[in-house]
Amino acid sequence: MRINKFLAAAGVGSRRNVEALVKAGRVQVNGETARELAIDVDPNKDEVKLDGKPLRLANRVYFAMNKPKEVVVSVSDDRGRTTVVDLLETRERVFPVGRLDYNTTGVLLLTNDGDFANALTHPSNEAPRVYKVTLDRPLESDDRRAALAGVRLKDGVGKFVEIKPGGSRGDRWIISCHEGRNHFVKRMFHELGYRVRSLERLSFGGITAKGLAKGEYRALTKKEIEYVYREYGS
Ligand code: URA
Repeated sequence: MRINKFLAAAGVGSRRNVEALVKAGRVQVNGETARELAIDVDPNKDEVKLDGKPLRLANRVYFAMNKPKEVVVSVSDDRGRTTVVDLLETRERVFPVGRLDYNTTGVLLLTNDGDFANALTHPSNEAPRVYKVTLDRPLESDDRRAALAGVRLKDGVGKFVEIKPGGSRGDRWIISCHEGRNHFVKRMFHELGYRVRSLERLSFGGITAKGLAKGEYRALTKKEIEYVYREYGS
């Protein structure tokens, strides 16, 4: 098995991401630093280490969590705050697929399958995200049109794909977008002169956390995993 395939299957990252680890000299095979990608390893015989720690092939696991507020989307937190990984019981080393802010709630996916995570988060795959947003004041029609046409952000133009009413007062909306830049929804509204009072992700790549209480999680179904690979995998 090629070294990059082994590393991805060990849950270290996507096949594309793990190549950088090899090039950086962080991977050892039987005590020797591996610097080339054209290396084959036998998972039953060879000892592969990352930064000196032994790796083994992991079972692939996939979860959807209903993220509560005040939980960090990260594997660990240097300020000692609870992370989404703390809330999940599994013997595999999982990581979150993309990010949600500390106070954003809703569906968050966690896995140890780097290719799955990459399929959903790579910008060119345009996996859809749907959010329920509450603003500090009613959204004006001109601003709604501007958010659909494109808003200049410091890291490039952003736009929403759809904006549907989420209530009758004009301050609640259901937003669809195809990208996951940091604080994307908040930055879009901030640029238009609004403050986001609350944000909940309703779906990501078609997967929802329906029926889960805050902090609860479930395993993805085979159908959901296959759907993601079919729609967004390369
Ligand atoms: N956009 C944001 O601003 N925050 C999130 O948590 C997700 C999308």
